[in-house]
Amino acid sequence: MLNFDYYNPTRIAFGQGKVAELANLVPANARVLVLLGGNSACSNGTLAEVRAALGARYVEEFSGIEPNPQYDTLMRAVAQIKANKLDFLLAVGGGSVIDGTKFIAAAVYANDEPWNILLKHGANVEAAMPFGSVLTLPATGSEMNNGSVISRGSDKLFFTSEQVFPLFSVLDPTRSYSLPPRQLANGVVDAYTHIMEQYLTYPVEARVQDRFAEGLLQTLIEIGPKVVEAPHDYDTQANFMWVATLALNGLIGAGVPQDWATHMIGHEITALHGLDHAQTLAIVLPAMLSVRRADKRAKLLQYAARVWQLTEGSEEARIDAAIQRTREFFEKLGAKTRLSDYQIGQEAIPSILAQLEAHGMVMLGEHQNVSLDKSREVLLAAA
Ligand code: NZQ
Ligand code: ZN
Repeated sequence: MLNFDYYNPTRIAFGQGKVAELANLVPANARVLVLLGGNSACSNGTLAEVRAALGARYVEEFSGIEPNPQYDTLMRAVAQIKANKLDFLLAVGGGSVIDGTKFIAAAVYANDEPWNILLKHGANVEAAMPFGSVLTLPATGSEMNNGSVISRGSDKLFFTSEQVFPLFSVLDPTRSYSLPPRQLANGVVDAYTHIMEQYLTYPVEARVQDRFAEGLLQTLIEIGPKVVEAPHDYDTQANFMWVATLALNGLIGAGVPQDWATHMIGHEITALHGLDHAQTLAIVLPAMLSVRRADKRAKLLQYAARVWQLTEGSEEARIDAAIQRTREFFEKLGAKTRLSDYQIGQEAIPSILAQLEAHGMVMLGEHQNVSLDKSREVLLAAA
């Protein structure tokens, strides 16, 4: 096992009716800014529950944080906070609203141009406003981690900082009942890929992390189809919400090598072509595993055996079958797994590679050997 420091200060309030606990979770004298996406939190009743729980506190709202949150939008919230001396942020939404809130929390205290937070991937963040979240879309894990992904034009960059862990997150599975099938499928694919980025590298005798990861993957395989088909089934959605949080709250990634090449390539596809985050992962992950099978051989065989019960046949056949099962799982959920399924042809590949180069993403993966040539191979395999 590798050495690690593990730190996660986010309190989780989990279960039906837990939005009411905002009454205790948000400081009584706070001047609150509630941050929202489009209309979903209003139309499904979550916003009404939030307003009721905040009671007599001074509350303003900022809505319009878009999927793949945009820098210019977020800077308008920063201006509102400064102008009205607000001191507590409450994100109500999916990963985009929570990520946007993390950026806003840090940008309020930035000494220089806030976009530098992204260019420096968070190394320059010294302080951030306190914030909590009410999660409405299980997928990113943003509700219990310190990462954030922000877009500006054709740049989609991430930052991490210990300053931007949520103080608390409310996870009420009934608050995601209104999600459409596409977002539910996206959530399953995103969580699945987060686990794979931390699990499917090379063995380091990290037995607990491996077993945790395999348990989370198997849970997603078990419940994934029902997540999409039965959005109002409490137990299914509760398990889904908790798996998605555990997939990226640092627990399974502590003490193990991590990959993240699929995500970095995926972010460029979203930036250039506007695909949903998880759609890009469904495209890139199977191709990534196939192209890098030599580096990942031992873990691919472990994945085949323990997650998909594939123990017969040659090693190569088992690896092929495990990758094929992964692809079929995504497809069954409704997430297409080829660039061509989204009308993106091979002629688009050079510009994706140029973006990777511009963003310094030229030595990706657990061995830092996913060069631009390797990324090209992956994209060709995903065509
Ligand atoms: O804007 P509204 O009206 O709220 O609608 C949203 C949005 O259109 C809708 N939605 C959310 N909750 C709903 C709902 N619709 C009906 N009922 C509900 N209960 O869903 C749509 C997508 O929302 P979004 O927040 O964009 O989705 P997601 O949670 O998948 O977040 C994606 C963003 O997170 C980043 C991605 O890159 C992308 O920008 N990521 C963040 C990570 C992190 N912080 O650790 C890691 C991830 O790998 C990812 O990169
Ligand atoms: Zn992701």
